[in-house]
Amino acid sequence: MSTLQSPSSTTVLEHLEEDGPSQKCKGGNISSLPNDIGPQDKGFLNEYHGFWIPALATSGVIASQKYFQARDTDILLVTPPKVGTTWSKAILFALMNRIHYQDLQEHPLLTKIPHDLVPLLEGDIYTKKKVHDLNPAFPRLLSTHLPYVLLPTSVKDSTCKIVYVYRNAKDTFVSLWHFQNRLYPTTASLEEAFNKFCKGMSPFGSYWDHVLSCWKKSIQNPGRKMLFLKYEEMKEQPTTYLKRIAEFLDCPFSPEEEAKGTVNDISSLCSFDNLSNLDVNKSRKWCLPDHKMTLFSQGVDNAAFFRQGQTGDWVNYLTSEMTEKLDHIIEEKFHGIGLKF
Ligand code: A3P
Repeated sequence: MSTLQSPSSTTVLEHLEEDGPSQKCKGGNISSLPNDIGPQDKGFLNEYHGFWIPALATSGVIASQKYFQARDTDILLVTPPKVGTTWSKAILFALMNRIHYQDLQEHPLLTKIPHDLVPLLEGDIYTKKKVHDLNPAFPRLLSTHLPYVLLPTSVKDSTCKIVYVYRNAKDTFVSLWHFQNRLYPTTASLEEAFNKFCKGMSPFGSYWDHVLSCWKKSIQNPGRKMLFLKYEEMKEQPTTYLKRIAEFLDCPFSPEEEAKGTVNDISSLCSFDNLSNLDVNKSRKWCLPDHKMTLFSQGVDNAAFFRQGQTGDWVNYLTSEMTEKLDHIIEEKFHGIGLKF
């Protein structure tokens, strides 16, 4: 069996001495965490406090929990993987920075992948030093794949705004499967991957617990500023959602902006057709230079984040048994909780 190397445990754990390792990391070694390693299983997952964290990200998760200091003014994008994180980063960045980039021909989104404009807590906060370098812009725009319960305490204690994006579970699974195949070409068959997804063994999953933990928090604590967005609804009415997001971020479109078409301009700038056809997103790689991790230090093709950008592609992949099984899980998990799924 060949697996990607787990990140060096000492890199992060040497910084954890003051508080001691988490219960699940006793012994000081991430490799002691339960994991899902099986035949052909590259990019394996560690079980960490009830969620499945990619081995590549486990050190970053622990470091961000320990070191990240949220500010009340922060905007945090929280997403499970493959629900449209890249698109949402583009939208949030474009909305929050539109005053600085009125000439769209000069816009940073034309030359940088959104991941380079909006840091990922568990990806970019890898060492104590990096935390201080993190996105000095104000207000800070940050992102994470962490489920609510694993967010750094400072985030939970702050009044920072959270934008949460989710997506039809079947399309999320299909998108994830393609992404993993692209990253690790010998990934498990569709059936094996599907069974794992149903068991909750997906990156930062289970998928439903990820969505539910944040949704339930927003119900229990209505004062918490959270905006829930569904990929399919944003696809259907992008400009309506752009306005809604801008209001949530306290940067609503002015009547002048509406009149001169700024909403449509940002929608087009962030659209799949535009972003996926940019040279930066077609032929360059995204990497985290300080990551002592095989995959992300070598770089991942930016194009891997722009596959199809459609809704409903799952019908081309899932059998009727698979559809039934996932429908059953969704019904069981989401019944009566008031979230449109
Ligand atoms: P598909 O694989 O279904 O095409 P993430 O950014 O969370 O990794 O999610 C990736 C998914 O979002 C992929 O879905 C990708 O094609 C889609 N995507 C990327 N950019 C998009 C955009 N600008 N508009 C809509 N969907 C986009």
